[in-house]
Amino acid sequence: METRMKPSDTTSVWRRKPMYLYEQDMQKSELKRVLGKWSLTAIGIGAIIGGGIFVLTGTAAHYHAGPALALSFVIAGIGCIFAALCYAEFAAMLPVEGSAYAYAYGTIGELFAWVIGWGLILEYAMGAMTVAVSWSGYFNKLVHLFGIDIPYWLRNDPVSAANFARDNGLAEPGFAVNLPAFLIVWLVTAILVRGIKEAAGANNLIVILKVAAVIFVILVGIFYVNIENWKPFIPEARTITGDNGSPHQAYGWSGVISGASAIFFAYIGFDAVSTQAGEAINPRKDIPFAIVTSLLVCTVLYILVSLVLTGMINYNDIVGDALKAPVAAAFDSVGQNWAVFIITAAATAGLISVMLVMMLGQTRIFLGMAKDGLLPGFFRVIHPVLKTPYKSTVLVGLLVSIVAAFTPISILGDMCSFGTLFAFAMVCLAVLILRRRDPNRERPFKAPVLNIIAPLGIFTNFYLIINLSELAQLLALGWLLVGLAVYFIYGRRNSKLNNL
Ligand code: ALA
Repeated sequence: METRMKPSDTTSVWRRKPMYLYEQDMQKSELKRVLGKWSLTAIGIGAIIGGGIFVLTGTAAHYHAGPALALSFVIAGIGCIFAALCYAEFAAMLPVEGSAYAYAYGTIGELFAWVIGWGLILEYAMGAMTVAVSWSGYFNKLVHLFGIDIPYWLRNDPVSAANFARDNGLAEPGFAVNLPAFLIVWLVTAILVRGIKEAAGANNLIVILKVAAVIFVILVGIFYVNIENWKPFIPEARTITGDNGSPHQAYGWSGVISGASAIFFAYIGFDAVSTQAGEAINPRKDIPFAIVTSLLVCTVLYILVSLVLTGMINYNDIVGDALKAPVAAAFDSVGQNWAVFIITAAATAGLISVMLVMMLGQTRIFLGMAKDGLLPGFFRVIHPVLKTPYKSTVLVGLLVSIVAAFTPISILGDMCSFGTLFAFAMVCLAVLILRRRDPNRERPFKAPVLNIIAPLGIFTNFYLIINLSELAQLLALGWLLVGLAVYFIYGRRNSKLNNL
């Protein structure tokens, strides 16, 4: 039995949430426990497979790894599996909504947990904004395939619309909005407010569609692979002009590694399973299963897609528009342009579930933080009938929809990776600390060889952070500083630990 905190501990920014309080939270949870192991796995896959595999593969093959893109996926997948095993250990031990934030609160301390929770906003809310804009791009392409063109000022934020007008010799529009992005966020918000069962049902359906599309790409694409395109598999390292116009070192083993950073975004999402602990029927067993299974399934699919892609089209030929839609371009290059319909439709549907899970994860993290008093009570209001944190869900929907509709947000993709990598590294650290500090605690799932995988996880994730764009690093650090100010103005004063 754990001892209660000494008074001196209760004022420090390093105060930790005692384990018995987590147990009380779990008993008091008002959320509906309806998610079984396959729905949880589908939530992981729903968040992972999205724009990353359909878009980033082209840039990563052409500018970084060549055919060895498959190895980049292996390396990023290994980095993720370290974090996934650590998440699984924690999620089984502390099946509460807050994910990495909650794990850090019980092990490292309040200030640190706050910074992670604040950083997770980069992953989930900003991730949802980025994905909403990508979704709009796919949606416009899809309706274009059916001969419908949405006016450019109704499918672009004001800055992108002005750029579009200038590039095409048109007069600048007086008003512009990314309407598809705005509307899709509200559709997702409505599903999330309706209930977790409805959200999981919609997600399951989309996951079936998008996994089928990915398997389709592999099984059909394999017949068009020209193995000459794989030779040499790891092209000799050389300096080329990068996608930002400046020279950079590509290919060779260093290209494989920078390719891993470039496609990391494609893996983001498996950790969102841990935010569903409050809604899982049997969280201690099923959450670790779902985290690890969803990651492994997607890793295998990603490696196969990247092999097929670089076999169908030579990495040197992935240029121009092919960089924006490389998988479709690969099918086009072998005369199978009908596949473009299937891929565009699958990506359009698939991105909806990425948004769904990201916004779901965001509201559950807010819920965990609000229960601890670090955020206002507004974020923990649960609808009496629907059993969802509806107020917080609508607020998240409002913010995500407005930013996605009115701002040019290409930089947010990297900031989303920053927030995720940071949380991954911290979870690896926290699980290691708790193993030392509380070795006898019951662990329904134990990460194997933790003394090796946790340090490797910390190293890999920090290494990938320093490979992100400098601007994204600066903006993300600025975001964390704002978070510190909010903590000292609000969180610290209102923390429930003040009352212990
Ligand atoms: N992994 C998600 C995607 O690729 C974020 O869209």
